[in-house]
Amino acid sequence: MTDGTLDASPGEIASGPPGDGHADRPLPGGRTDTYRHPPLVRINHWLNVTAIVILLMSGANILLAHPHLYWGVRSTFADPWLSIPAIPNWLLIPQGRNLAEARTWHFFFAWVFVINGLIYLAYGFVSKRFGRRLWPTSDELKGTWASVKEHARFHFPKDEEARNYNVIQKLTYVSIILVILPMMLITGLSMSPGFNAVGGFLLDIMGGRQSARTLHFISAGLIVGFIVIHVFLVVWTGFVNNMRAMITGWFVLEPSDHTKGDGA
Ligand code: HEM
Repeated sequence: MTDGTLDASPGEIASGPPGDGHADRPLPGGRTDTYRHPPLVRINHWLNVTAIVILLMSGANILLAHPHLYWGVRSTFADPWLSIPAIPNWLLIPQGRNLAEARTWHFFFAWVFVINGLIYLAYGFVSKRFGRRLWPTSDELKGTWASVKEHARFHFPKDEEARNYNVIQKLTYVSIILVILPMMLITGLSMSPGFNAVGGFLLDIMGGRQSARTLHFISAGLIVGFIVIHVFLVVWTGFVNNMRAMITGWFVLEPSDHTKGDGA
């Protein structure tokens, strides 16, 4: 690895300049404050959360204008693939059914999401952050099953092993960034009348407008699934520490029982 974060062996806290050019800060009790997220990533993340929440809530309002999904080119009203049950009013933007206003919110925040996402992607590639922080190595991939079993027992890494994302986190973040979010964007774009005028081929690839609408709904569902698990893990693995990392950039590495035993 290139950023010096992995120079220490497991159980030993590195004393060099590890996190994105910031040296570790030793804390009492063998704990270490390490720098994890640069300002751009933090601003990007919270803007993305805002945009996605508004997109989901305004999208729900749009969906309620015709709460049935189909495959193919046309809606066969008699035979939907899926009918959406009532969605509580507090989950809608704006409050109360209003297709025109919901579309205004949806399209505005779609642009916020796209521009923000492009900045994050450009930064991730140019700074090589993706390679250093998010892309799993082949050794890590070999340990995926072991990591799944550890997670299933709710054992999460500590000290040096917690310095970087574990393989499950890496795979989840990479899939959401490179597969699910682009899928939501492309299926959404394919339905836009403006885009159809120049790129109608997208609708053909999706198998028609109704299929595109259904695929857009499925990607939104996958994102909701991701958010539920993501937020659950943020809370479970140390809400204050994780949130502090995504707000200030600094993350505390707790010593493992093994390290404590060494008197470190
Ligand atoms: C209220 C909702 C959310 C909360 C509280 C939350 C919280 C967090 C926190 C605390 C981290 C840092 C974890 C760590 O340092 O170990 C993180 C990272 C991340 N989150 Fe979220 N998140 C939320 C929603 C989302 C959404 C909607 C997405 C995208 C669909 C998302 C994508 C990511 C990604 C990709 C990372 C890794 C970023 C990187 O290191 O470059 N999060 N989140």
